[in-house]
Amino acid sequence: MGLVIISEKKEHWDSRFAFIMAAVGSAVGLGNVWRFPFVCYKNGGGAFLIPYFVALFTAGIPLMILEFSVGHMLRGPPPECFKKIGKKLEWIGWWTTLIPFIVASYYVVVMAWCFSYMIYSVDLRWGADAGNFFLNTFLGATTGPFVIGGFRIPVLLGLLAIWTSIFLILYKGVKRIGKVVAITVPLPTILLIILTVRGLTLPGAMQGVSYYLTPDFSKLLHGDVWLAAYAQVFFSLSLAQGILITYASFLKKKSDITNNAFIASLADAGTSFLAGFTVFSVVGYLALSKGVGIENLGIAGPYLTFITYPTAISLLPFAASVFGIMFYIALLTFGIDSAFSMIEPITVGINTKWRISKTKSTAIICMLGFFASLIFTTGSGLHWLDIVDHFIANFGLVLVGLTECIVFGYLYKVYRLREHANAVSDIRIGRWWDILIRFIVPVVLITLLIASLFENLTTTYMGYPAWAIIAGGVIPLLVILIISIILMQKRGK
Ligand code: ALA
Repeated sequence: MGLVIISEKKEHWDSRFAFIMAAVGSAVGLGNVWRFPFVCYKNGGGAFLIPYFVALFTAGIPLMILEFSVGHMLRGPPPECFKKIGKKLEWIGWWTTLIPFIVASYYVVVMAWCFSYMIYSVDLRWGADAGNFFLNTFLGATTGPFVIGGFRIPVLLGLLAIWTSIFLILYKGVKRIGKVVAITVPLPTILLIILTVRGLTLPGAMQGVSYYLTPDFSKLLHGDVWLAAYAQVFFSLSLAQGILITYASFLKKKSDITNNAFIASLADAGTSFLAGFTVFSVVGYLALSKGVGIENLGIAGPYLTFITYPTAISLLPFAASVFGIMFYIALLTFGIDSAFSMIEPITVGINTKWRISKTKSTAIICMLGFFASLIFTTGSGLHWLDIVDHFIANFGLVLVGLTECIVFGYLYKVYRLREHANAVSDIRIGRWWDILIRFIVPVVLITLLIASLFENLTTTYMGYPAWAIIAGGVIPLLVILIISIILMQKRGK
């Protein structure tokens, strides 16, 4: 059944290697270096690895296999795939592609920060007080989300450079993506390894690492920690964003699915784990140099990468600038292939439905993306980024993942996808996979959603005013829902 649906498309990856690199490139990104270490630290340190790996094996890898199979078998971007299952389901496909569009709108802003910091590393511009430099001089951070503040010109310029790069990479199609990822996957990995070796050979590194990994098992009793683990796996593996469906639709007929999913997932988890060492070894060094406890360094969210790390860089005994530049180049190159992968599903979706050229659809989406990013380049950007990231990653992705399980597990016969994957893959998957997709993953995701909803209704996230939560969390999710329905109703060509 599965193979019958395939009709060979003109565009496809040059090789299996190009596809794996693109999937790994999409997965490995700022999520691994910027997000994983602090999420791990905040949610129990070493103990977080338990929910993380449980999430990886019970949801991450099975869903990656699902998305690869859907894209490969139904041959199209998400709106097409969902439409093939049921005409009325097309909106789910659009909704899926709009989620990464929102993620990209703030993701590129963090990349723009990296861009500036790469330049600032040359003369260690943040000086003696990296915290003041980041929050006041660089971001002009305001006191709350509704105190907007002005645009930050360096961030705007970085943003322009990054959206332009995304356009230039995407508009030529997947062949160009394949060429770009051949550089943007190995290069930052090598840089990360060099930085880790440097970090681990610094005095105090071991205290930092043990701080990162010392388990706080009491955290495992909190639903939020488990939600954070699943959300991190979804975010990091680029799941529930239509990316892997779109990428797999460009595979040739006889292309492995299951083995590729294992390779991409484990490469991603390995990079996250490694990045924890890179960052926390340096944090340990910083604490030792300053003679303070690690807990007093203010390791939270973006601060780790833009305050703690630069402070430590300044204290390096030699070649401080070189290591600083290396770190931010690694972040930028890790980030770029994730950023463009988030834009690809919607551009291919538009391009397929309305038959407009890839150049035009990419240009339109990059331009809209640039405008959507603008709010994050103001003085209030840091607050909005925190709110939008929290809600889109914790609710949006988990909700789409759940919808995928329901659609493919119940409205479609999931065993067809399994048979399809088995027909082309090195590793064969058994009926346990159907059970995961139909029962285990949905139950886990529903439980997590309810727990998190309860938590968010009873306590306001980070003490932000309720209106900010509605504006940054609820409204974007509703708006993209409405846009998805409108896009479905528009006639295609
Ligand atoms: N998967 C991408 C990352 O981890 C979004 O950064």
